[in-house]
Amino acid sequence: MEQLLVEGGTPLKGRVKVNSAKNASLPIMAAALLTPGDILLEGVPPLDDVKTMLSLLHHLGARTNFNPTTGDMKLTVPNLQDFTAPYELVGKMRASVLVMGPLLSRYGRARISQPGGCAIGLRPIDLHVKGMMALGADIVMGHGYIEARAKKLHGTRIYLDYPSVGATENTMMAAVLAEGTTVLENCAQEPEIVDLANFLSNLGARISGAGTSVIRIHGVEELRGGRHTVIPDRIEAGTYMLAAGITRGEVLLENVIADHLKPVLAKLEEAGVRIEERGDEGLLVSVPGEIRAVDVKTLPYPGFPTDLQPQFMALMATARGSSVITETVFENRFMHVPQLQRMGCNISIEGRSALIKGPASLTGATVKVPDLRAGAALILAGLAAAGSTWIREIHHVDRGYHEIVDKLGGLGARISRIKVGRSLTGTYAAGMRIKKAGENLA
Ligand code: UD1
Repeated sequence: MEQLLVEGGTPLKGRVKVNSAKNASLPIMAAALLTPGDILLEGVPPLDDVKTMLSLLHHLGARTNFNPTTGDMKLTVPNLQDFTAPYELVGKMRASVLVMGPLLSRYGRARISQPGGCAIGLRPIDLHVKGMMALGADIVMGHGYIEARAKKLHGTRIYLDYPSVGATENTMMAAVLAEGTTVLENCAQEPEIVDLANFLSNLGARISGAGTSVIRIHGVEELRGGRHTVIPDRIEAGTYMLAAGITRGEVLLENVIADHLKPVLAKLEEAGVRIEERGDEGLLVSVPGEIRAVDVKTLPYPGFPTDLQPQFMALMATARGSSVITETVFENRFMHVPQLQRMGCNISIEGRSALIKGPASLTGATVKVPDLRAGAALILAGLAAAGSTWIREIHHVDRGYHEIVDKLGGLGARISRIKVGRSLTGTYAAGMRIKKAGENLA
């Protein structure tokens, strides 16, 4: 078992390169099921979620080849071996349901394990299913699985009750090989959806409007192979900006699309963080004065991203004044609050809002990661806290942050991964050091 040990108090300084987006890579990988042609993806981050999607594609019959060092990934699906996304993989990663649209569209059949509950909310997939049904699929549910069948999907007008990212992607992928035109209304507008649409267009799909609330898809007979470079990860970028902010440091972020981060940049600047665009070099983040409390409400894009809410809350705990953070996207995304409270943050929750009173003097403590982005928030809090913070259950963090220990270490943070064993008396014996940031133990 591994834990992170963070010794806080050092302002981060230096440069950090942001990876390609996890949330763009996953649907694009699933989209490889739509074509028998060869797909080459460039810059795919070697994250645990990416590996789970690779296992799923392999299970379904894809030939896969991934170089985690270069990020090059080759995918070819000549024939399908199975049409089931099993519980073991969907339970591990909800984005596994993204194979439903492509399987149904190309093969007329998909069987997907129901994801069930998840840490940050109920997260049903009713909108995905509604999209498939509107395109003409018959749906049967039973034994924990959703089975969708259709001889041929037919384009139609679909109104999404909520601009769900996954439902937009799944329905869009189902519609590209459908007969006729599909008009998807009230759909999600995230940059990852635009990236998926660009990728599909490269393969010969006819899509317009991605990035707005109405997407039009004219079905085509078949798709060919192609290559694509995945967009930078706006959530990873935002996390490092907040790390610079919470440590009152100065960090240059490389490989960022500032446009994708507009609401985050606006809120950071309102709070007193300075952001300078340095042309091709990237974005320079610094803190010229004190950090002020600001209110934030999470919303679908182009609103403030829910995936940066926990990290922003950590920053607000160190700000002067009181801020209110309202979470509207997920119903249970305050799991980091009790952990942040252990570190001295003054936070109270009322329904979907959290009141954060700052500035708090953060102190190192042992904390447990409840989910991916909450884990990032705890690391940030640890970087700002006095003393040592031990962070448990860090496998959640590995789902979405590649080499976070090395990257933060490169910026001067004192952070290391520690192997921890349970002793015979049941207590934890820490000590076997795995790797300090930037250090090569080999
Ligand atoms: C994606 C992101 C995730 C991010 C989220 C919101 C990926 C792989 N993951 O997740 O990191 O936090 O967008 O920006 O891209 N909902 C329904 N019914 C459905 C589908 C969703 O009620 O059929 C609800 C969910 O419970 C949630 C809200 O809609 O409350 C948003 O979910 P959605 O946009 O679908 O998120 P994901 O695609 O799962």
